[in-house]
Amino acid sequence: MSNDAPATLGAASDLAGAAASALTSLTGAQPDGVWSAPGRVNLIGEHTDYNDGLVLPFAIERRTWCALRTRDDRTVRVYSTFSDEVHELSLDAIEQAEFAGWSAYVFGVIWALHERGVDLAGRLGVDLAIASDVPTGAGLSSSAAIECAVATALNETWQLGLDSGALALACQRAENVAVGAPTGIMDQTASLRGAEGHAVLLDCQSLVSELVPLPLAREGLTLLVIDTHVTHAHATGGYGARRRSCEAGAEAMGVPSLRALTEDDLPAAQDALDDETFRRVRHVITENARVIETAEVLREHGPRAIGDLLLASHASMRDDFEISVPELDLAVETAMAHGAIGARMTGGGFGGSAIALIPVERLAEASDAVVAAFSEAGFTAPTTFTVTPSAGPRRDS
Ligand code: GLA
Repeated sequence: MSNDAPATLGAASDLAGAAASALTSLTGAQPDGVWSAPGRVNLIGEHTDYNDGLVLPFAIERRTWCALRTRDDRTVRVYSTFSDEVHELSLDAIEQAEFAGWSAYVFGVIWALHERGVDLAGRLGVDLAIASDVPTGAGLSSSAAIECAVATALNETWQLGLDSGALALACQRAENVAVGAPTGIMDQTASLRGAEGHAVLLDCQSLVSELVPLPLAREGLTLLVIDTHVTHAHATGGYGARRRSCEAGAEAMGVPSLRALTEDDLPAAQDALDDETFRRVRHVITENARVIETAEVLREHGPRAIGDLLLASHASMRDDFEISVPELDLAVETAMAHGAIGARMTGGGFGGSAIALIPVERLAEASDAVVAAFSEAGFTAPTTFTVTPSAGPRRDS
């Protein structure tokens, strides 16, 4: 929404149809099927996933669709509604393939399935066409949505019988190796295990997850996303640096990952680590505790009671982990001054989006105030829209 009314999304069938039409324009034939998978918002639990920690994301109604048609040779072709290019690869060349551009998300999934033991030898190639309404660069996991839509389509078409955990690991591997972004397992799991009206409490060590009710509408709440348009690129820069700090902190503390530490270990960590590494470690330790508490509070008291935890998470990312930017801080502060119950930046940081939990009747006011504050500060105008905890992957036709 730009300023005063919640954005409405195109009907899902529009984009399922757009993916199907793109495939038909490529092949001259109807797809065998259209599958889709959602983007995600992380409610809380940031930079904890690659530390074997805890996260609490939810799938959103913005999705990526993948139309698929089986070929009679070994070629895979990828097309989309957002580019004129057709990318092509032979299944026989998947091991030597060099990935570049957005098709890396698609070919990377096939490569990762192969690496994880899927025998591609006797399989036929496919034509794929992608359509999406998950905004890119906004911290809403547009990349995981592509990976998970493609993986879901191939899992059914090739009758792989893989469960959501195996698919998530393959999609993460595609992101890490084919795309080159050293990210954790949260985004793919949120996309693959999301459910309407729920957040996904995921233990990134065991990969065990459970659904936690997040009944926003019933409680008269809505969740506003404020996309700052400050771009982040996780394949480079700060994300990897934070990951390395966490690994260095764990090594210095003599544990396999920061998951092994609790708030009781903070005094010893402060003695053992330099100030910067200590603050990175403190963020991860306290964030894991906040995830557990948020899930408990949601179950016992509902979403109106989690505001302080969201705010504490933001402060920790701003001050200890140092991954916020002035635009994200302004979004959080302004939303809070205009009726939000809680707010925080979401995703990897250094840009992307903030989220604000807001009573429905204050939504327009808060959104307008954020847009006005950005204008006053001389920042690029943000895009604001609401999201709802939504379903995971599915076959659409
Ligand atoms: C990005 C990564 C995730 C996670 C978050 C930070 O979204 O893809 O794996 O690390 O950043 O919580």
